[in-house]
Amino acid sequence: MKKIALGVCSSISIYKACEIVRLFQSEGLGVRVIMTEKATCFINPYLFTSLTGERTVVKLFDDQQRPIEHISLADEIELLLIAPATANIIGKLASGVADDFLSTFYLAVRCPVLVAPAMNESMYLHPQTQENIRKLKTLGVEFVEPDTGYLACGKQGPGRLASPESIVHHGLRLIKSREPFRNKVFLVTAGPTREFLDPVRFISNPSSGKMGYELAREAWQLGAEVILVSGPTSLEVPAGVYLEKVQTAEEMRAAVEKHYTRADVVLMAAAVADFRFKKALSDKVPKSEIAGRLDIEATPDILEELGRQKRRQLLVGFAAETSQLETKALEKMKRKKVDLMVGNDVSRSGVGFGSDDNEVTLSWPDGRFRRIPRASKRKISQEIMAEIEVLLNERKRNS
Ligand code: PMT
Repeated sequence: MKKIALGVCSSISIYKACEIVRLFQSEGLGVRVIMTEKATCFINPYLFTSLTGERTVVKLFDDQQRPIEHISLADEIELLLIAPATANIIGKLASGVADDFLSTFYLAVRCPVLVAPAMNESMYLHPQTQENIRKLKTLGVEFVEPDTGYLACGKQGPGRLASPESIVHHGLRLIKSREPFRNKVFLVTAGPTREFLDPVRFISNPSSGKMGYELAREAWQLGAEVILVSGPTSLEVPAGVYLEKVQTAEEMRAAVEKHYTRADVVLMAAAVADFRFKKALSDKVPKSEIAGRLDIEATPDILEELGRQKRRQLLVGFAAETSQLETKALEKMKRKKVDLMVGNDVSRSGVGFGSDDNEVTLSWPDGRFRRIPRASKRKISQEIMAEIEVLLNERKRNS
């Protein structure tokens, strides 16, 4: 099992470190916690020992420790994350002070280091703290910027520890980033489109955007630059991902076209509405006058257009079907010149539209196919990215 070290300092936001441990564990990673002595005034180390199943390290010299543990532990970890990080630890790291386990350990590790600051806004914005942060950045240390909002001291400003989800998301990018994804641009579409008759009525579908957002999140963690073109959803955009919000198929087409020439990989997970009203009205139409105004026409098929314009881009399409999944997905793959088609049966409950899970059949133009049984959309995204990595490597070999 891959392991990370989590350095925990004395901040009111220390309780969020428990959630950080849990989120890393849910990604299959082991966590070893290192606390500063002052952090133990807020939380007993036994809490982290119970959460992680591993003894929490506090002191540099301790009878229960392995000899020179700051060196042996440094060889075992993939990431050193310090969250919450105080102004004091940031200052010590920047100037090479090694007077406790955590600051000594920082000098011993060779893996990536990620720091998530948490402090009062005056302390955070103090030129000395900012200078320390700048210096650490030049040394290759990465930072998760603190959030702006109400602070424990009652003031408002930057200094609130970033959310555990955002910190873990950044940490996972440092652990998982892989060569075929680095310096690649991934263009992902997600969610439904809305085709309006008037300001309050539209044609749409039940897409929640979950599949597309998971693909965007995964691609970013693997090291790609990610542009997410999203129809209306209630989802939070993964940190690091550039978002373009759209409503209609026409807007989605324009946004996708704008970024297409830069894209290396395009994943069309959006459920683009197939029809729109021939005439959209700016005023709400009275119910009694609706008859005769419902003339519809097909929306542009964005993926088919991308297939026609394709140069070096790798196109991944999705096929949402309620019967004959494989036959229909194959037909769409050929017609839209897709390099990898992801077919999902949207008639089944618990998978497809809106759910956290999916069950898909991948197919390739050479006739191969692979079924992925029901799993979370996160897991399905990881499987899709693994297949994209194979295709990117093949292209590199053949170029
Ligand atoms: O958003 P979720 O709730 O997580 O649900 C996920 C999902 C079911 C929406 C997703 O997994 C999925 O199947 N997305 C594609 C839905 C769809 O529009 O399928 P389709 O078979 O109608 O279209 C085939 C492909 O052409 C798709 O890649 C689609 O994005 C694209 N298309 C379709 C119509 C259109 N006018 N333009 C397009 O580009």
